[in-house]
Amino acid sequence: MNSSTAARPPVATGLAAHVADGLRQDPKTLSSMYFYDATGSELFQQIMGLPEYYPTRAEYGIFAAHGPAIAAALDPAEAPGPFALVELGAGDGLKTKLLLRELLATSNDFSYVPVDISPSALDGLAASLAAELPGLRTTPVATDYATALAQLAARPGRKAVLFLGSNIGNFAPTERAAFLAQLAAPLGAADRLLIGFDLQKDPRRIRAAYDDAQGVTAAFNLNLLVRLNRELGADFDLAHWQHYTEYDPLTGAVRSYLVSTRAQAVRITALQHTFAFAAWEVIHTENSYKFTHPQIAALAAAAGLRVVATFDDGDFADVVLARA
Ligand code: TRP
Repeated sequence: MNSSTAARPPVATGLAAHVADGLRQDPKTLSSMYFYDATGSELFQQIMGLPEYYPTRAEYGIFAAHGPAIAAALDPAEAPGPFALVELGAGDGLKTKLLLRELLATSNDFSYVPVDISPSALDGLAASLAAELPGLRTTPVATDYATALAQLAARPGRKAVLFLGSNIGNFAPTERAAFLAQLAAPLGAADRLLIGFDLQKDPRRIRAAYDDAQGVTAAFNLNLLVRLNRELGADFDLAHWQHYTEYDPLTGAVRSYLVSTRAQAVRITALQHTFAFAAWEVIHTENSYKFTHPQIAALAAAAGLRVVATFDDGDFADVVLARA
């Protein structure tokens, strides 16, 4: 295994520019991409184990039940030879390890390229893979989706791309279509794309998954302000902010917010600017869209993709796609 410590991207500059832009919008908005500092990645790992947060368990169950069929769809018998398994937003790799074991048993002529915005999450993943799957060739890459897409397009050879969990749901509809088109464009005939889609279901279950009783999700959302305090010299007073989330069954969107519980001014030293928040004004921090099967089919078709196989437990669907 040649896993190495992931290179650190220059995210601080990106963060300052993003916050300057996002807090001048109406409504004020910050991207969920910045949740995942070391603390945020740890909190998200806790979220994935919460009783209310069903998506991770659902997808884990699908991989456990259909491992051989999923591996066969990703590594088709008619396309022998080496390939790269590239995962966007790999996180702790808990679910992916099921697929990696399956693929190691059947082909073992592949290398695993986990990509994540969080260097600390990737370091943890590389260490656990070295211990649990010592035969696996792993090349972690710490970067954002935009850079990862460019690297993917330039990568020679056969590839299978994983985009698991609720990641696809975190895009707004326009960005989602653009992202999928960019992901699909460089795919060769034998390349595959596996995307996880959280399905529309009982609205109360969905909402609870984003507002758990123990308050871990609240801590995760609020940690974004802790990060701005530390990295940008901001003075957000956590006593006057709260986590709020809603699910809209008409659009399938879960929206999460940070709510200013009183009128307040926040100084951000790195931006040399003070931002005013009215009482109960919100910062929109996350979309997490839930899908129907007709929507999934339409998304694939619009991106020039065809559905090779669907694995669905009623709550969550893993869809293997290929160039149309
Ligand atoms: N990608 C995860 C999801 O959409 C992230 C997430 C889970 C999240 N819970 C959250 C983001 C709460 C913001 C707030 O499921």
